[in-house]
Amino acid sequence: MKTFHTNIAALATGFALIMACSSLLADNDAEPVEPLALFAIMEAMGENMQTITAATAGEDWETVVETSPLIADHPQPPLGEKIRILAFIGTDVSAFKGHDGQTHDAAQQLGQAAASEDGEAVIAAFAELQLSCLSCHQRFRKSFKAHFYDRK
Ligand code: HEC
Repeated sequence: MKTFHTNIAALATGFALIMACSSLLADNDAEPVEPLALFAIMEAMGENMQTITAATAGEDWETVVETSPLIADHPQPPLGEKIRILAFIGTDVSAFKGHDGQTHDAAQQLGQAAASEDGEAVIAAFAELQLSCLSCHQRFRKSFKAHFYDRK
């Protein structure tokens, strides 16, 4: 009888182990969703913002002049992805494009302010630029994560 119970216990432990392993495997099997090209474009914009922050602190206006257009004229996702994005945002397309336009304009102003070595104007334009990022993120980021990555 003792061995019977021991066997049951061993079986139960084994079963628990198998379940644990298979759930681990399942996690590994569930390929992370391929990030949008938009995501890499955004990350590059984030890095460019950091470059600009550091350059502004050093009054290195040349670097600000060189970096601003990388944000103003950031690359676009490939056509297929654009179509997926447009299909998802539907009637919000003008709002989405409007935010992108604000980012474009603010980044251009930032570049101009840096070209005239006007530190205060650089900082004001940078604030505008950050606001343009923020307002698009507040409106769209969460729903993009939910739709394209199935994340809550
Ligand atoms: C027109 C809308 C829009 C504008 C403008 C915009 N973003 Fe984004 N951004 C998004 C969306 C949508 C995502 C989520 C993309 C994804 O998860 O694939 C995102 C994601 C990001 C991320 C990745 C962070 C994360 O984990 O989601 C960074 C960094 C980022 N944006 C930086 C910026 C910066 C810096 C600016 C302004 C200079 C900016 N974005 C302007 C829409 C925008």
